[in-house]
Amino acid sequence: RPRILSGMQPTNDSLTLGNYIGALTQWVALQDSYDTLYMMADLHALTVNPEPERLRERTRTTLAQYLAGGVDPERSTLFVQSHVPEHAQLAWILSCQTGFGEMSRMTQFKDKSAKQGADSTTVGLFTYPVLMAADILLYDAALVPVGEDQRQHLEITRDVAERLNTRFGDGTAIVPEAHIVKALAKVYDLQEPTAKMSKSTTGKGTIWLLDDPKVMAKRIRSAVTDDGSEIRFDPATKPGVSNLLTIFSTLSGRTIAALEEEYAGKQYGHLKVDLADLVVETFTAFQARADVYLSDPAELDRILARGAEKARSIAAGTLSRVYERVGLLPPA
Ligand code: TYM
Repeated sequence: RPRILSGMQPTNDSLTLGNYIGALTQWVALQDSYDTLYMMADLHALTVNPEPERLRERTRTTLAQYLAGGVDPERSTLFVQSHVPEHAQLAWILSCQTGFGEMSRMTQFKDKSAKQGADSTTVGLFTYPVLMAADILLYDAALVPVGEDQRQHLEITRDVAERLNTRFGDGTAIVPEAHIVKALAKVYDLQEPTAKMSKSTTGKGTIWLLDDPKVMAKRIRSAVTDDGSEIRFDPATKPGVSNLLTIFSTLSGRTIAALEEEYAGKQYGHLKVDLADLVVETFTAFQARADVYLSDPAELDRILARGAEKARSIAAGTLSRVYERVGLLPPA
């Protein structure tokens, strides 16, 4: 079966509704037809310089949320990025095949470093996409399910893979495809529905999956909507309502067209109240499942040990293939 690799950074106590809709639901849907590997990208999380004990904790809560969202440890390989040293090893090889100029054009880097200023921007933040390319190429992944904000990182991963094949021969790397489901790949901030819902905001426009459900409901009910009163999916003129419809459709499994029909002639308030109820119902159950996993650290450890073992067995093979192709002398 073709392989899939994806991951999230354990940078917060909770994932967001954007992570859930743009990535996690896709991960779950793909487990039946692919060999799926999902990781906690703790090495990437070091780029925000987290407090050490919190990073460890968040790596576990992130795993618990993958599981609560429906990732099945029997069908998917779940692992911590830093448990597989080959990620950092391949990243070095790839960094020697990546242009300084092309890295400098990465929009996420430009945005983040502009905010931080040159003196507090680390080299790790700069080479972040190279490590991400290593994550993907290490598993010969065919498909990488992510949200829209990762598209550019996927493109550079493909460029680097093609470059390796040109320079060192076909089959040195598998060129991966991004799996970005257009309708779900960008969930917007509830207060500013033309901006991405993001982990780095402290505002009221983000839904945190482990937040108090009452707070979640309140945030949905106070979401910014648009001029007019018609409940219709039209992101260009009705970004707020369209975002709510996307969320509603994903959580209910109903089509946007069916929702438009049901809410024809009703007011924005009706939609918000119903969606708030659905969010509370969905994530109360989600949190209960996450709590069960979090209350059994030994089970989480077992899942991670098994995952790391499987991941390493694939990663080691790829790394030695690449080492050999680029001309490193194998140890005697
Ligand atoms: P991260 O941790 O920022 O986000 C995890 C996933 O959630 C998606 N996402 C969204 N999707 C829709 N709407 C939103 N508002 C939204 N916000 C976030 C992201 O696109 C992502 O799929 N660099 C990656 C982590 C990573 C990775 C990898 C991913 C490291 N190595 C290898 C794939 C393959 C990141 O920071 O995701």
